[in-house]
Amino acid sequence: MSTSIKRIGLFTGGGDCPGLNAVIRAVTKSAKHRYNLDVVGVEDGFLGLIQNRTHPLGWSDVSNILTLGGTILGTSNRANPQRYPVKKNGQEEYVDVTDRVVEHIAANHIDALVCIGGDGTMTGAANLIAHGINCVGVPKTIDNDLVGCEQTFGFDTAVTIAAECLDKIHSTAMSHHRVMVVEVMGRNAGWVALHAGLASGSDMILLPEIDYDLDKICDLLTYRSRTGRRFSIVCISEGAKPAGGELSVSRRDETSPDPIRLGGIANKLAADIETRTGLETRSTVLGHIQRGGTPTPFDRVLATRFGYHALELLMEGVFGKLVVWNKGGIDQVNIADVAGKQRKVPITDPLIAAARAVGTGFGDLAA
Ligand code: F6P
Repeated sequence: MSTSIKRIGLFTGGGDCPGLNAVIRAVTKSAKHRYNLDVVGVEDGFLGLIQNRTHPLGWSDVSNILTLGGTILGTSNRANPQRYPVKKNGQEEYVDVTDRVVEHIAANHIDALVCIGGDGTMTGAANLIAHGINCVGVPKTIDNDLVGCEQTFGFDTAVTIAAECLDKIHSTAMSHHRVMVVEVMGRNAGWVALHAGLASGSDMILLPEIDYDLDKICDLLTYRSRTGRRFSIVCISEGAKPAGGELSVSRRDETSPDPIRLGGIANKLAADIETRTGLETRSTVLGHIQRGGTPTPFDRVLATRFGYHALELLMEGVFGKLVVWNKGGIDQVNIADVAGKQRKVPITDPLIAAARAVGTGFGDLAA
């Protein structure tokens, strides 16, 4: 054990995600219980580091938060220290405020930092590491798209919620003999759509990794209708797009590490299907519901294991690592190796083969 660490900081960055509080609890309780450390909570992710907003975290602050959604520390997916907006002569300019962040870490006497977040946060953590800050990362995202990690916490909860919603959509689809197009989150990776689509028995699953052909989709839906299957469920990832077409972007936020916010593809596809096939078609966008509420028991366990392992790494003096879940166990990879990268669904993924085997369409092959 390294004895030089007396005080640790932790923050949650990027979009909120079920299980964040479970990590905060695990890190804080084991820091207190096993090593008697001081723990400092940084408010609102990198924004709190830039603005020097922190508070001490004690045992009572983290009691009874294991099942709580969101993050008690607050978060931000709009604060990037390397590209922070400031007003100069009435004009907005982007400047690098990393030195300010480093000063604030020193002013808070933080010996090491636990950075809980996705690829944007790990990119920021890699920058802090390059400036001499002792960091470890904990992989958070409902998108499950962090390179080097087979499962992030939050993903299981998002899939569970999305699958439950898809199950419920069946009632209306069946009763009204409709095509129901349901848009799920995931950014440029189709993990949520693939797992929730398969779990709910969706008739089509459309992924960012497989551009769809509207003719193929309509052929399958028409075939189902003609052969007595009077409703269809299409589970579409927000990052899916037609072959040769564009992503559906709902907004841009230039202050965010990833400025593009996806959304709207389900509406577009539903209109296209109805026009082309004459089948009554409706769309539903699940949105932030997928990130809300209590984490599943699986995510609570994973988050607790990640938090505990992150602290153990710090106390062993092992820095610059992201704690990951791989091949059924906890492992670690270099933050620098995964920062700024995204893990997408390979088209050879066994889940795609299994879904195709039970007749699920991916919008790419003939019915
Ligand atoms: O990365 C998590 C995520 O929920 C994505 O699935 C989604 O594209 C994005 O965040 C939405 O971001 P925001 O909360 O800023 O709308």
